[in-house]
Amino acid sequence: MNIVDIIIKKRDGNKLTNEEIQFFVKGVTDGSLADYQISAFLMAVFFQKMDVEETACLTMEMAKSGGMVDFTDIAGFKADKHSTGGVADTTTLILAPLVASVGVPVVKMSGRGLGFSGGTLDKLESIPNFDISVSEEQAIAYAQKTNIVIMGQTADLAPADQKLYALRDVTGTVDSIPLIAASIMSKKIAAGADGIVLDVKCGSGAFMQTLEQAELLAGIMADMGRHVGRKVTAVISGMDQPLGMYIGNSLEVIEAIEVLKGNVQGDLLEVSLVLGAHMLLLAEHVSTVEEGKALLLGQIQNGEGLAKFKELLLQQGGDVNVIDDYSLLPASKCKKEILVEQSGYLNEMNTALIGRASLETGAGRAFKGQELDFGAGIILKKRLGDYLEIGDILAEIYAETEKMCASAGQYILDAITVDDTKGELPPLILKILSE
Ligand code: URA
Repeated sequence: MNIVDIIIKKRDGNKLTNEEIQFFVKGVTDGSLADYQISAFLMAVFFQKMDVEETACLTMEMAKSGGMVDFTDIAGFKADKHSTGGVADTTTLILAPLVASVGVPVVKMSGRGLGFSGGTLDKLESIPNFDISVSEEQAIAYAQKTNIVIMGQTADLAPADQKLYALRDVTGTVDSIPLIAASIMSKKIAAGADGIVLDVKCGSGAFMQTLEQAELLAGIMADMGRHVGRKVTAVISGMDQPLGMYIGNSLEVIEAIEVLKGNVQGDLLEVSLVLGAHMLLLAEHVSTVEEGKALLLGQIQNGEGLAKFKELLLQQGGDVNVIDDYSLLPASKCKKEILVEQSGYLNEMNTALIGRASLETGAGRAFKGQELDFGAGIILKKRLGDYLEIGDILAEIYAETEKMCASAGQYILDAITVDDTKGELPPLILKILSE
């Protein structure tokens, strides 16, 4: 078998056999395929797609490319959550401590930024000394003690995904249903969670732009999870504007802490509570979503969620003083305010362009392995439906240079649509595919 033949076969729109997919995944894993061949294969899949059978085979081969994690030593139902990727989507940093604080263990393997979307690992690494490299044994010990671990994939967990993920990030091959489904579900199948809540983002700042695409992706992933005996709920949530107001690594950590302190209401809090409540429902810790949301909100109000976040930082070496002193987090040198240039109602945001603006500040990667500027990013000052006056501050940009700030600012101005009449606000939760 030859990789060039396989690339050409997919490039020309043909269905691959299981043996061909196995050959590809093996070559990715053992390093015998070059990055340019892997990238060409990814681009061929991006354009020609894969059917459900090919996607399932790719997923299982990627899951088997390393070892399977065994978390059975952690007592209780282990709940996990995974987002398909959005902008200002800091829900993991909020819901993981909240869910863990009510006694449901959260052992979360998170990822880095992908395309214009941010990644939990990058955000956590912006906290001085926070260690995301946790071994399986350590994770079990941590979870037994505190109920919470947020870590990177261990080197042995779905290594094929680790390679493909890093290449997709920088080759324009992220927004593909088979590639996203295989990436997420290979990790979830190889990792030890009993129940998974999938947050399938839909809208201008998501890899799935329409409800139809989002439902297709959600359905494929849920079927694969259930097929291997996991409980799965898929929540399709809106991404027609950034979920929170802060975009960038240390900036998103600040916003998550503010939510845990009870200082932030709105969409970010709501989606965190909905996803967290579904984790509790899968764990049979509550019997309705409303009960779950109320319980988690109570954990914000009584300070238990923030206390659990502090425990997480202490456990993994992070500086807990950042919770009360945000100046201990990295901050970029330059700051620029972007002012509104046209008055009217803010009716649309091209959220992918806002994510793109964040890459321009240095908060995301343009090439594989690029070091991030953890202090870079954007604070948005307006949301959809707001009335804008000329001269209002639309956003604050943080970056290393004035030039980067200016470039990011232009993306933000290009991303917004302002009208004389107020448009309808897009829905926040579009659909829930329950167990
Ligand atoms: N998260 C992943 O782990 N993989 C994707 O492809 C998208 C989001």
